[in-house]
Amino acid sequence: MSLLRTKSVEQSIADTDEPDFKLRKSLTALDLTIFGVGVVIGAGIFTLTGRAAHDVAGPAIVLSFVVAAIACALAAMCYAEFASTVPVSGSAYTFSYASLGELFAWIIGWDLILEMFLGASVVAQGWSAYLKVFLGQIGIVLPDAISHGGVVDIVAIIFVLVLGGLMTLGIKESMRVNLVLVAVKLFIVLFVIVMGIGFISSANYSPFVPDAVPTASESGFHQPLIQFIFGLPPVTFGVGGILAGAALVFFAYIGFDVVATTAEETKNPQKALPIGIIASLAICTVLYCAVAIVVTGMVRYDELDPSAALAAAFSYHGQGWMATVIAAGAVAGLTTVVLTLMIGATRIIFAMSRDALLPRGLAKVHPKFRTPWVTSILVTVVVAIVAGVTPIGALEEMVNIGTLSAFVLVSVAVIVLRRTRPDLQRGFRVPLSPFLPALSALVCIYLMLNLPVDTWLRFLVWLAIGFIIYFGYSRRHARVGQPDYVDVTRPRVVSGPDQAKRSPGTKK
Ligand code: ALA
Repeated sequence: MSLLRTKSVEQSIADTDEPDFKLRKSLTALDLTIFGVGVVIGAGIFTLTGRAAHDVAGPAIVLSFVVAAIACALAAMCYAEFASTVPVSGSAYTFSYASLGELFAWIIGWDLILEMFLGASVVAQGWSAYLKVFLGQIGIVLPDAISHGGVVDIVAIIFVLVLGGLMTLGIKESMRVNLVLVAVKLFIVLFVIVMGIGFISSANYSPFVPDAVPTASESGFHQPLIQFIFGLPPVTFGVGGILAGAALVFFAYIGFDVVATTAEETKNPQKALPIGIIASLAICTVLYCAVAIVVTGMVRYDELDPSAALAAAFSYHGQGWMATVIAAGAVAGLTTVVLTLMIGATRIIFAMSRDALLPRGLAKVHPKFRTPWVTSILVTVVVAIVAGVTPIGALEEMVNIGTLSAFVLVSVAVIVLRRTRPDLQRGFRVPLSPFLPALSALVCIYLMLNLPVDTWLRFLVWLAIGFIIYFGYSRRHARVGQPDYVDVTRPRVVSGPDQAKRSPGTKK
């Protein structure tokens, strides 16, 4: 079926050598780890820890972080296997083109665009909000008309334009700026942990897992899909609270998968990608658990401020100045998240347009900077407009659903590619396959079911738009389907029933 036509791994790799579409290979395992930490640590740890502890999990929020980390680790291993087998820009999109077929590749690419475009826009608004708080604390007041909360958030627009310029100039340059900001952000997270330890009181950890209590039912479009389908009674805290907390703090881990989008710009990708993906996730897990333990030790969970728990915990102990430090950390932290998500979005669109699923002109690489400059400008302009003038601040869950759906498909794709192409060189292999990749898909589906009904509806609308573009444009233009398309793994002979026999990895 042509909807499920695949593009061979060999062809994807061969495409990366076309002179007009060739990116510079300059990144090392260390660059990728820093890139990963840069995109993962952001709004999530600064805002969700307190909210999840206060609302659903209590001090056991640290276990929620562990559960979410396990879900991410399973998916991270699948990404590492794929990225080390198919080191091509485009991440999960490219992997699924090689294994699940074109329609799934399109869906996944479309989901990743949602994750990164929307993620960058949402976090850019958050950045603007934190900047306002930070400047306010040091006595500089930004006028409401041009900053967060105003009609047009000019501060967010300028911020996105500066980052867009940076990413168009070069990936290495972007990584250098990233390095400085990641250092600032890590320093501040560590500072919060170290400063907070002195204020921990062990009494705050008791009860560690508060007893489950029934809650007023979240009804209508805001209840989790799983509750809507099965009519489950809503409870918080207890073991269920730990799991609900995991679905919530999942957002804080989003981003390690973006490392895979830079595969094509990596030296020695077979080794560097698995290290970059898994190391960044491991570092963030340790820091998140430490922050969770400290903040719930400083203040009893039911007294935590759900909107700004970190800053409020320090104010509670008379350390109000820490709020300024935390706001500064958030400003530095969110900068790298937006930059990295924008880079990720351009690499996905680059890969999709190189395959002509989107107009091919978008994939043009700049002769000097070696970056996909047309896509970079497009991404910058759209993110700037969305962040500057739309009320999308509350759509984080859309980012979660886009990411989780990509995780599910990547996990399944690992199992499929092991079957269809056992011969491929894999720099990293998920242990216990197909058990662990299957578990990864199931855990991610479970987390998706915990997202609200309205998020699912918006997601379906997004997919419907994707299908219109796919059937209206991409399917006819895809390079794989053109009469003159030659796959490097496929013999050029066309006649005779025997020739219909498939060569490895090329379903038709
Ligand atoms: N993980 C990223 C954050 O927490 C998206 O901001």
